[in-house]
Amino acid sequence: MMIYEEIKKLFLEEFQQEPMLVRSSGRVNLIGEHVDYNGGFVLPAAIDKSAYVAIAPAESQIGKWISMDLKKKTEVDFGVFKPLADHRWANYILGVVEQFAKRGLSVKPFHCVMSGDVPIGSGLSSSAALESAIAFGINEMNNLGLDRTALAQLVQQAENEFIGVKCGIMDMFASLRGKENHVLRLDCETLDYQYFPLSLGDCKIVLFDTGVKHNLVDSEYNVRRSQCEEGLAFFRKKFDNAVQNLSQVPLAWLQASRSQLNPVVYNRCQYVIEENQRILSACEDLQAGRLEDFGIKMTATHEGLRHLYEVSCQELDFLVDELWHESAVLGSRMMGGGFGGCTINIIKMEAIDGLFAKLSTRYEQKMGKKLKMYSVVTANGTEIING
Ligand code: GLA
Repeated sequence: MMIYEEIKKLFLEEFQQEPMLVRSSGRVNLIGEHVDYNGGFVLPAAIDKSAYVAIAPAESQIGKWISMDLKKKTEVDFGVFKPLADHRWANYILGVVEQFAKRGLSVKPFHCVMSGDVPIGSGLSSSAALESAIAFGINEMNNLGLDRTALAQLVQQAENEFIGVKCGIMDMFASLRGKENHVLRLDCETLDYQYFPLSLGDCKIVLFDTGVKHNLVDSEYNVRRSQCEEGLAFFRKKFDNAVQNLSQVPLAWLQASRSQLNPVVYNRCQYVIEENQRILSACEDLQAGRLEDFGIKMTATHEGLRHLYEVSCQELDFLVDELWHESAVLGSRMMGGGFGGCTINIIKMEAIDGLFAKLSTRYEQKMGKKLKMYSVVTANGTEIING
């Protein structure tokens, strides 16, 4: 049975009512890491791993929410938006509901059942996928008329304010606006976006999952964000108050500031400024079919994330280092927030199985953990399923 059929079945059993079924994808990001909240460019794609939600109006103020995967159930009073300490999963939904209310948009209380196949804590944005599915469902069910960009902004704010991760807009934007066979280049300052066909020839995108679960709420993610803000405030004061974000800061300003900036903040800024330049030329490589050059830039991104931005971990570094010299691997780097999760790799198809066998043995020997591999393809953005 497909996941959406399972949640529908459970919904019908619990509520004897026909639900709306919504699917929303997780994402990969080819290049442009930790630049979304710095107003830079990112290059994500929605993938064929999704969150699924069955949703329908409740008859009273009380909604019943069920997580099929966690085997948990909770009741929610729509008059109160208090985080639920014993049901952290439900907070992802509550945060979204609260944002509609904050915009003065009235949301009918609802029941919902959710499930999905985006691995949790692996850096594939399972939470953004769930929040995007819920936001989309609420918007449809209540005829609120928000477009996908407005929904992405709403979901980002829910994460920022209710969950407490000061994330950028990349994950939810990709989940809501992804397009099959394409990557999306998003300017995170203006929210202008453009689709690029993703043609990988005889290569595939492969993810290796370290098995180190990352939870950005408890990580140094928010610390990185404030270090970047410190850098931006410095450049504004010293050079030009009109500069809007760190990605726009010229490298020359940074270089002229070495003695005045805190060395850690300096490194963070160097990474962001370089990464934003890297992604623009990487997009040209992709368009021109220069996959080898694109791959070299991915690897440079990893080096920056590891040494300057310091969001990698030994497991991620091990996986990247092991593949560095393999001729069948065009590019390899950690992906997403970091501190665990997956590496993203572009690998020649015929070499994938052999490499995985070798890599997983080495990984288990060195790290004492099982390595998982996901081969992903791109998918469309959030949609209603007629199931
Ligand atoms: C997480 C965040 C995103 C982005 C990435 C790093 O996935 O949710 O907003 O900052 O990390 O690029």
